[in-house]
Amino acid sequence: MAAGLKTYIFYTYFILSLTACSVMASSSSSQAIKGGYWPSWDKNFPPSSIDTSFFTHIYYAFLIPNDVTSKFDIEYTTGLELVNFTSTLHAKKPPVKTLFSIGGGAEGPIFFGRMASSPSMRKNFIDSSIEVARKFGFDGIDLDWEFPQTSKDMENLAYLLDEWRLEVQKEAKTTNRPPLLLSAAVYFSANFFLSEPYRSYPATSISKNLDWINVMTYDYHGSWNTSATGAQAALFDSKTNISTSYGLGSWIKSGVPKSKLIMGLPLYGRTWTLKDPKSHGVGSPAIDVGPGDQGVLTFAEIEQFNRDHKAKVEYDLEGVSMYSVAGTTWIGYDDTLSVTVKIGYARALGIRGYFFWAVHGDYKWKISKRASQLWST
Ligand SMILES: *[C@@H]1O[C@H](CO)[C@@H](O)[C@H](O)[C@H]1NC(C)=O
Ligand SMILES: *[C@@H]1O[C@H](CO)[C@@H](O)[C@H](O)[C@H]1NC(C)=O
Ligand SMILES: *[C@@H]1O[C@H](CO)[C@@H](O)[C@H](O)[C@H]1NC(C)=O
Repeated sequence: MAAGLKTYIFYTYFILSLTACSVMASSSSSQAIKGGYWPSWDKNFPPSSIDTSFFTHIYYAFLIPNDVTSKFDIEYTTGLELVNFTSTLHAKKPPVKTLFSIGGGAEGPIFFGRMASSPSMRKNFIDSSIEVARKFGFDGIDLDWEFPQTSKDMENLAYLLDEWRLEVQKEAKTTNRPPLLLSAAVYFSANFFLSEPYRSYPATSISKNLDWINVMTYDYHGSWNTSATGAQAALFDSKTNISTSYGLGSWIKSGVPKSKLIMGLPLYGRTWTLKDPKSHGVGSPAIDVGPGDQGVLTFAEIEQFNRDHKAKVEYDLEGVSMYSVAGTTWIGYDDTLSVTVKIGYARALGIRGYFFWAVHGDYKWKISKRASQLWST
């Protein structure tokens, strides 16, 4: 344990010094991506409230197609909201690029599996997505299929991406406009090794067709297991492969170029109710979730909770994550300290950038600002 800890401390310093070198050596070959998803259902957080100085790309979350036609039926009020989103963010100083994201965790995998398996549904989906992007002024489209369930789904995903890229190129040529960006939000690992059946993403098609992928390096522990606390987005885990370092490594190993890998950072945490407040580390016994809807609180809510309850805030050096404890409440999350180490790690790896789920969760832009400063060349 002690040796492991020392290794990690050394590793952290090693990474940070590597970062210093790579900062100096960095070229302008590809612009860093500093992304953030905007949840359209939070009416207290309009697009105008986003401080665009910390971002390069903002994603509208989410649009969902008609599950019979696989085309998008955009209602009048939604259309107004989409135009407001893109025009507001394009007019900001500095402007950011806008994409709309299709699907999301709540949508589930059923529609996508069916659509991707049918050539005619794929065509409707692709044509309609391009039409929506142009009509409402987006710079790109993001696919958030959570998650392909079988190897067949993965094969069909490859066809979908091949055809989507082809149409995007065709459309750009016909209209003489820059091609729409195409991205996807994907599982933290390039292979699904925790659930049956084992399956791998189509790395070749992803590399060829997508501008980048948003790797969802979070949700490692949560309300689905209330018997023990856990870091939901640890950088390292010495006992399992459920960690950000493993996930990003698996994507690199899959062959997707580092210039297309974007690391996910959560602006929310997950809560538990401890069995015994005296045992309050990462992995301590728990009996239930804690405060929040299914034990989820935004970073801003966690900061508020910590202040209100005079919570003890700890940094888990080994895993690189934060947790706070107040009575029997235990909250695992990321703050500026853990994000600083993660950004250092990501830069040393040589990947392209990071994204947040979701922009409304930050507290006074603390984390967004720190991350952006650390990734400016
Ligand atoms: C967007 O909507 C807000 C709130 O309704 C409004 O104040 C703002 O002027 C709109 N902006 C654009 C560019 O349409
Ligand atoms: C819940 O988490 C604990 C600690 O990580 C682990 O030992 C246990 O196997 C998990 N239980 C389930 C059902 O996954
Ligand atoms: C982690 O994954 C590697 C292969 O990617 C495997 O060899 C190793 O056994 C795994 N470790 C654990 C703890 O599952």
